[in-house]
Amino acid sequence: MIELCLLLAGSVLATSVTSVAGEQEAKNFDVFDFIDPFIGTIAGGHVFPGATLPFGMAKASADVNNPDEKQGGFASDNSDITGFSHMHDSGTGGSPSLGNFPIFPQTGCRGDNINNCFWTKTDRASRRINGTAKAHPGYFAVSLNTSIHTEATVTNHTALYRISFPTNSSTAGIKNGTGLPYSPLILVDLTDLPDSRTNATASVDSSTGRISGSGTFSPSFGIGTYDLHFCADFNGASIRDTGVFQNNRAGNSVKSISTRPDGVNDPPLPAGAWTQFHAPANNQIIIRVGVSFMSVAQACHNAETEIPDFGFANVLSSAEDAWRKKLSVVKVDSTGVDKDLQTVFWSGMYRTIPTRTLYGTPLNRTMIRKLPDCRMSLCKGFTQGGSNADVVLADSYLKNITAGIDWAVGYEAVVSDAEDEPLNWAVEGRGGLESWKTLGYIPTDDFDTLGSGPFTRSISRTVEYAYNDFCIAEMAKGLGHIADEEKYLQRSSNWKNMYNPTQTSLVTNTTGHIGETIDSGYTGFLQPRYLNGTFGYQDPTLCSPLYNFTSCYLNPSGHETYEGSSWMYTFYVPQDMATLITTLGGPEAFTNRLSYLHTSGLLYIGDEQAFLPVFQFHYAGRPALSAKFSHFYIPSQFNTSLNGIAGNDDSGAMGSFTTLAMMGLWPVPGQNVYLITPPYFPSVSVTSPQTGKTATIRNVGFDAGYEAIYIQSATLDGVAYERNWITHDFWLEGGVLELTLGRNESAWGTKEGDLPPSTSTR
Ligand SMILES: *[C@@H]1O[C@H](CO)[C@@H](O)[C@H](O)[C@H]1NC(C)=O
Ligand SMILES: *[C@@H]1O[C@H](CO)[C@@H](O)[C@H](O)[C@H]1NC(C)=O
Ligand SMILES: *[C@@H]1O[C@H](CO)[C@@H](O)[C@H](O)[C@H]1NC(C)=O
Ligand SMILES: *[C@@H]1O[C@H](CO)[C@@H](O)[C@H](O)[C@H]1NC(C)=O
Ligand SMILES: *[C@@H]1O[C@H](CO)[C@@H](O)[C@H](O)[C@H]1NC(C)=O
Ligand SMILES: *[C@@H]1O[C@H](CO)[C@@H](O)[C@H](O)[C@H]1NC(C)=O
Ligand SMILES: *[C@@H]1O[C@H](CO)[C@@H](O)[C@H](O)[C@H]1NC(C)=O
Ligand SMILES: *[C@@H]1O[C@H](CO)[C@@H](O)[C@H](O)[C@H]1NC(C)=O
Ligand SMILES: *[C@@H]1O[C@H](CO)[C@@H](O)[C@H](O)[C@H]1NC(C)=O
Ligand SMILES: *[C@@H]1O[C@H](CO)[C@@H](O)[C@H](O)[C@H]1NC(C)=O
Ligand SMILES: *[C@@H]1O[C@H](CO)[C@@H](O)[C@H](O)[C@H]1NC(C)=O
Ligand SMILES: *[C@@H]1O[C@H](CO)[C@@H](O)[C@H](O)[C@H]1NC(C)=O
Repeated sequence: MIELCLLLAGSVLATSVTSVAGEQEAKNFDVFDFIDPFIGTIAGGHVFPGATLPFGMAKASADVNNPDEKQGGFASDNSDITGFSHMHDSGTGGSPSLGNFPIFPQTGCRGDNINNCFWTKTDRASRRINGTAKAHPGYFAVSLNTSIHTEATVTNHTALYRISFPTNSSTAGIKNGTGLPYSPLILVDLTDLPDSRTNATASVDSSTGRISGSGTFSPSFGIGTYDLHFCADFNGASIRDTGVFQNNRAGNSVKSISTRPDGVNDPPLPAGAWTQFHAPANNQIIIRVGVSFMSVAQACHNAETEIPDFGFANVLSSAEDAWRKKLSVVKVDSTGVDKDLQTVFWSGMYRTIPTRTLYGTPLNRTMIRKLPDCRMSLCKGFTQGGSNADVVLADSYLKNITAGIDWAVGYEAVVSDAEDEPLNWAVEGRGGLESWKTLGYIPTDDFDTLGSGPFTRSISRTVEYAYNDFCIAEMAKGLGHIADEEKYLQRSSNWKNMYNPTQTSLVTNTTGHIGETIDSGYTGFLQPRYLNGTFGYQDPTLCSPLYNFTSCYLNPSGHETYEGSSWMYTFYVPQDMATLITTLGGPEAFTNRLSYLHTSGLLYIGDEQAFLPVFQFHYAGRPALSAKFSHFYIPSQFNTSLNGIAGNDDSGAMGSFTTLAMMGLWPVPGQNVYLITPPYFPSVSVTSPQTGKTATIRNVGFDAGYEAIYIQSATLDGVAYERNWITHDFWLEGGVLELTLGRNESAWGTKEGDLPPSTSTR
């Protein structure tokens, strides 16, 4: 459903892992054999399966017309294809994203009459030919039922399409199967997937056939607008005619069309330009589409400089090389490992790498006042919880991922999040800051005169603001702001203020007397709390899969938790799990409750908030159970099926879950802490780009049947290692972490001194 944007785990991987140790074990290993870009292209995964480069702006694929599945452009269902566009987001929820300026090829127009070609998305929609959709990193292809075969590849800012027209043109009917003159026509439509266009212009050059233009669009999950520009050139056939179209009428007398919102037509009327060709000599036309956020001239410049010669094969092989290089950063010994699991691993990593969010964006004084939780299409995206850019910044700071970041400015920004409420906290900073500072929680009936935003999520905002303040404290400590450190550490304990120790939870029995309501046996949950200090009530199971699952989204009637239940949020104290464990009755009661969260059906693993609870057994001295629950979810919820992702992929977040869990070091976002579980491979190695040193995690007694998944003992560079966690230095300084596995839980990593840090025990 709706989530996205801040990819903590994914970003950790993308930024800390960028160079190679060497060849994979097997000489004939090709990582492309283990990447299926179509995983997650149905059932709400919203994965973009098309052609792109690592961190590339151009992302080319076919677009379909299924409103529930077209968020990432293409879907592996039976829906119709309406065009081929050059920019996409992957895995987002909400409304569809990008998909601007689609092109659409036709073999000819019936009766050679331009008005018999198909212009609108509805009219031109064509089925795919089943089984023709193919993709690998850098490449996408599909055939339409018009017998037109399409292929796409990309450079950084340019999409390149190779369109093959049917040679049997006398029978290559469009729509009604009757004969056509063989005179291909290619249109560019001034639209996008969410139909958000307002002002737009397209022009066609009658001598070269070049179609270029601009449009103003809206982001799919945020406010404001963005301008985008394109420049399409053609190669392979001579120009026969050019013109423009509006709605379902076209003509050749006018070469430019501008459109404005008319106040009546919503979605806006289709409009754009077209170029028609004489029959291409080899039945192919290459289409090169440059894109730019700056100008048409820049879009054309990008296209001309990146692909001067329209050479499809060369561009494709450069794209493939770029991916092989990028993916060679991780080296695994996969002896004995099931091919499907290897595919889950590499496909997850592939999806994590295309879209890096905040890291690498230089921050400077002119850019920062408040930090948005999410940025998309150059606009501010909606905030879903706390000011979680604080977490990303602290994470980068602690891990020395500092390129381009002025930390004095970064610190000013996170303090501004914590201290100064913006007028619109739906898209930046935090709301309720007056109550936060005076009461120490976000009251469910808050009176906030400083700004406005969705007055929901009082529970989840409280626990996230508390964690955000902890992250600020960590930065304050590093930067020598001692008083601030103390202040924000103090505020990081505010989660306790929403905890009602007497709250019980009834659940539905799903195992025996199905439907019968029974006491879960657990007491003490986060609950709504009013300005006057009294607790309100929200059923702790509300918005879990067991009860009104979809009632906690970012709408005004959303409840006090976001995309999940109080059951889940009650575990969200990553800064001080030690105190949480005491609060919930000690390690044994905590472990029972956390196991129950996973086995009772109360937890949906398809939203990121559910990731950390898989590994929080470490804090109660039970690292074996973290390993057990990692395997509980992989592959049952993350697998190689087309629907093999629980929930939206969220720009690779689900991919990062599988990749990091299978590598065996789970990062606690915002802390210099990785929780250790055995990798799903005999060994995994990663080389640091900063230091060139290699970190290897090796299993001794590896069992590909995954019965021996419990660590019995460990060594780091040959020395006994008892802690069940490790810091980022391991990635930077390299070394060998060797884990000896067995079939039963052991005493390893269970003692008090072995546990990851908590504010109350540090
Ligand atoms: C193509 O596959 C879909 C299932 O994805 C099926 O519903 C449809 O009938 C198939 N079409 C043809 C022509 O076989
Ligand atoms: C192609 O697909 C479209 C959209 O489903 C359909 O209207 C049209 O009849 C199909 N054409 C052929 C030749 O099958
Ligand atoms: C694409 O852009 C990235 C990031 O700016 C750059 O590192 C890379 O070299 C570019 N790739 C090509 C093929 O130009
Ligand atoms: C035309 O030829 C292509 C192969 O070039 C074939 O796939 C398609 O079925 C043919 N179409 C018709 C309508 O005969
Ligand atoms: C198919 O196209 C022919 C040629 O223009 C036209 O006469 C005929 O009415 C169309 N048939 C259908 C079923 O639309
Ligand atoms: C759209 O064009 C109108 C003039 O036709 C202009 O007033 C308006 O500012 C433009 N809007 C945007 C978002 O560019
Ligand atoms: C800050 O960054 C923006 C965007 O990259 C840039 O336009 C601006 O010149 C920078 N300002 C300073 C002072 O570096
Ligand atoms: C980060 O860099 C500082 C200073 O260079 C160093 O003291 C610290 O140990 C580094 N931290 C990590 C996690 O490598
Ligand atoms: C659910 O019902 C079954 C059968 O009556 C019972 O054995 C089981 O203990 C119940 N579950 C819980 C959690 O009470
Ligand atoms: C506190 O406020 C809530 C919400 O307005 C109200 O329902 C409750 O009765 C109040 N409690 C007291 C003790 O005033
Ligand atoms: C649960 O969903 C039902 C049906 O949509 C609705 O009537 C009810 O008010 C919801 N309950 C809560 C607590 O939101
Ligand atoms: C694959 O994952 C999906 C999504 O989580 C799940 O619904 C499905 O049951 C899984 N399939 C298998 C074969 O485990």
